[in-house]
Amino acid sequence: MPRGLFITFEGLDGSGKTTQINRLAAWLKKRGHGALITRQPGGTATGDRIRALLLDSRSKGLAPMAEMALMFGDRAQVIAEVLTPALTAGEIILCDRYTDSTEAYQGGGRELGSEIVLELHRLICDGLQPDLTLLLLPSLEPSLARARRRNQRAVKESGEDETRFEQEQDAFYSRVWQKYREIAAREPARVVLIEGDLSIDEVHERIVAAVTQRLAGLAAGRLHS
Ligand code: TYD
Repeated sequence: MPRGLFITFEGLDGSGKTTQINRLAAWLKKRGHGALITRQPGGTATGDRIRALLLDSRSKGLAPMAEMALMFGDRAQVIAEVLTPALTAGEIILCDRYTDSTEAYQGGGRELGSEIVLELHRLICDGLQPDLTLLLLPSLEPSLARARRRNQRAVKESGEDETRFEQEQDAFYSRVWQKYREIAAREPARVVLIEGDLSIDEVHERIVAAVTQRLAGLAAGRLHS
């Protein structure tokens, strides 16, 4: 059975994931590879409804366990509807956030711990792991300021309110940041950590280097199967 390539992007809000996903998709296209772009929460019609519930600042007092369960509910849907069929068809997937986000935000930020997140991942996601995770960790303050500005602008312009997470205090985000670093240290073969305040081009170059390596592995695997 062919197996595509499952690439996830992780990082704090405002770390530049979206820009890098689009750059990588364009780079892949030039080399004759299509890529399917998706995101979490969201990525399916049901997932978009879960996303609205999760990110809307009117969802006040959402219990951390409820928040985590909704993240996994969204993920189960995207796995069934999008990820599994695409990977089985041999496609390349670029996914904006996956279980590492739940470990960092709910496990770290909300202090639920890693163990419960990893156990739910095993049960609900059938252990579906990315082949490669690109973790963007520029310094904390500028990324947060960027994300907060962007979301406030969206509220003003379109009435779309996705500010619930950005309203969290800095202590929450430094726990998220710490947890991301812990994940990178624990899984160095899967997670490529890109830290520091690099230019968009520099980050793109590092991403391309990591992806080139994985594409070579994919081609070799197909040759031998
Ligand atoms: P997203 O819209 O991707 O934010 P950004 O574009 O700013 O990176 O994600 C929405 C928010 O959801 C983000 O603050 C992180 C949070 N989140 C979790 O807390 N847990 C999760 O499992 C996921 C997937 C996202």
